[in-house]
Amino acid sequence: MVRIIGFFVGLGFVTMLLVAFFTDAKNAIQNPSVETAEEQFHLKPEPMKLASDGPLGKFDRAQLQRGFQVYKEVCAACHSLKYVSFYQLSDLGYSEAEVKAIANQWAIEVPTVNPDTGEAATRKALVSDRFPSPYANETAARAANNNALPPDLSLITEARDGGANYVHSLLTGYRDPKTYRNEKGEALPAANQPGTGLHFNPWFANLNIAMPAPLVSDGQVTFADGTKPTVEQMSRDVAAFLVWTAEPNLEARHRTGWTVMIFLLIATILAYMAYRNIWANAKREVSIRGPLEPAFRERMDEQKADRGIAG
Ligand code: HEC
Repeated sequence: MVRIIGFFVGLGFVTMLLVAFFTDAKNAIQNPSVETAEEQFHLKPEPMKLASDGPLGKFDRAQLQRGFQVYKEVCAACHSLKYVSFYQLSDLGYSEAEVKAIANQWAIEVPTVNPDTGEAATRKALVSDRFPSPYANETAARAANNNALPPDLSLITEARDGGANYVHSLLTGYRDPKTYRNEKGEALPAANQPGTGLHFNPWFANLNIAMPAPLVSDGQVTFADGTKPTVEQMSRDVAAFLVWTAEPNLEARHRTGWTVMIFLLIATILAYMAYRNIWANAKREVSIRGPLEPAFRERMDEQKADRGIAG
């Protein structure tokens, strides 16, 4: 009886599954889902090579300095770097005096309190300070940016899919929405044209970003090392710099990783040699006294022959 009930319950489940499958299949054929504008136009970050890529990667200090310069002269007007301190700039190859001068001359002052009056005030940045935010708070930041919030850039290359590649593609990815065609030759529909204060950029997930193109003309900054400041170069350099801000100890991590790998390799070899050494006698015993011993085999063959067993 239980079996019959079980059979019918199972049959019920299978029937429901089949009904669900065929209804969905019919639906998918009759009303195929329409591609969203995001699926049609959003582009994946273009790969870009950086010296810090891969397990052997090291930072290119000259590039980081150039990237820092782009941040300082362009991005710092809107974006904070609240997890990075001035003193860390010595990692980029600046001397102590240079780092002091950079902090002292930083255009944005650090908020503080006047000790005499208790009023809010600002002071020059010190080497021990984090990079100050250009806005007093989120409300002020949104008010200045058409209600969009410029995110803190310290960890942006970790926070976005594609990391540095994404930042580089985004900075060089502004296109004219009127004339833009995707790889299938389709134009951007009217409903997805950027609204006021928005700018079309197919690398941005939303297609229209509130940040106006920050790097617009070659020579926007002048690099101290004489590198030609094309838009392409500046965006690469600032992306490389943002890899450093997100992970300043990447080189130490790579070094530790290699040390651990080599240590584990040597430990494995030692463990194998110890295993051979410890079991060597036991194995010898087995081969002398065990079933493979020639005298033992001879006896067994004789017995088999006596009883007429083959093999
Ligand atoms: C005029 C102000 C302004 C400047 C200058 C500026 N940004 Fe932005 N940025 C913004 C705003 C506003 C947003 C938020 C956009 C949004 O959410 O639509 C943003 C967003 C971003 C994002 C995040 C995009 C995302 O996926 O959410 C990155 C990365 C970025 N900016 C990098 C930079 C870099 C690098 C520079 C310097 C070369 C720079 N920005 C200069 C205003 C600015």
